[in-house]
Amino acid sequence: MRTNYTINDLPRFSPWPARLLGLEPWEQKHKTPEEVTREYENEKWAQLLTKIREAGREVSVEAVDEWALAAVPYSVCSIEGTLQLLSAAEGHQRYLDLVEATLKPLLPMSALVELGAGYGSVILSLAKRDAFARMRFMAGEYSTSGIELIRCLARAQRLEIEVAHCNFASRQIADLIIPPNAVIFTSYATTYVPNLSADFVKALSIYSPRAVVHIEPCYEHYETHTLLGLMRRRYIEVNDYNTNLVTLLRDQDKKSRIRILDERPAVYGMNPLLAASILVWSPSI
Ligand SMILES: C[S@@+](CC[C@H](N)C(=O)[O-])C[C@H]1O[C@@H](n2cnc3c(N)ncnc32)[C@H](O)[C@@H]1O
Repeated sequence: MRTNYTINDLPRFSPWPARLLGLEPWEQKHKTPEEVTREYENEKWAQLLTKIREAGREVSVEAVDEWALAAVPYSVCSIEGTLQLLSAAEGHQRYLDLVEATLKPLLPMSALVELGAGYGSVILSLAKRDAFARMRFMAGEYSTSGIELIRCLARAQRLEIEVAHCNFASRQIADLIIPPNAVIFTSYATTYVPNLSADFVKALSIYSPRAVVHIEPCYEHYETHTLLGLMRRRYIEVNDYNTNLVTLLRDQDKKSRIRILDERPAVYGMNPLLAASILVWSPSI
C-alpha cells in the first residue's frame, strides 16, 4: 500500500480542493453563535444523543466515535509534514495518542480540564489511559446536547467528571470551579471563535493553571510559500475559523502576561487542510 501521498491526491478524498478553487459551489460560512448552535446543538451532537436514546442501552465513547467518523471512512491525514492515507479509526487513535503525549509531560496536575469538549471524545478516552488514572477530570462545553452526551457517556464508563457550560467568548469562560495547577486544554474548539480577545487569555489565567494547551488549527502557522499552506489558509477563511490565536498568545507573551512554553506548527490533521498546531503556555505569576 502507498504510504506517502501528495497534495495532488487530495481531490480524490475530499470535495474541498475543488470548492476552494471555485470549481464546485460552496457557501461562505460565518461562525456566529447561531451557526455554532445549528451545527452542534441542533445537528451533530443532537443526532448522536438521539441515536444513544434509540439504542436503549449504555453506549461507549468508542461506539459514538465510530458513528461520528462513519461519514469519512478514509482520509489523507497530515502527519508532521507528510500526507498519509489512514482509516478514520486509525487517524482518530493517532490523534488521541498525540494528545496524550502532549499532556503527559505536564503531570502532576490538580485536574485535567477540557474546554469545548464536544461529546467528550478526547477527555473520556484519555480518562481510560493509565497515564491519567485516578485523575480529577472536568469538561466544559458550549452546547447543551454536548454536555448531556458527556454526562451520559461518562456514566457508561463509571467515570466521575464535572461537566458544565463554557463559552470562550465570555468573561467567565466556564461554570466550573477549576482548582489551581490544573492543566486546561482545548482540541479543535477555540477555532470556532473567529477572533479571540485578550480577555480570553485573562479569563483562563484567573484559574492559575499549571499550563494551558491548545491543539488547534492555527492560521498564522500555515505557510504562504507552499500550495498546501495557502489552501489551508483559504479553508480557514471560507469556514470563518479562528485566525488570531498565535498572534494573540505571542502578543500576551511579549507583554509578559504569559509565557509560551511550546509552539509546534501544523503537527497533525485528519483533515489535511485543518492540521492542528500545539501551543502550550502558562500565566506569568
Ligand atoms: C469540533 S468540536 C471538538 C470537540 C472536542 N474538543 C474534540 O476534539 O473532539 C468543537 C466543539 O467546540 C464547541 N464550541 C464552539 N464554540 C464554542 C465556544 N464559543 N465556547 C466553547 N466551546 C465552543 C462546540 O460546541 C463543539 O462541541
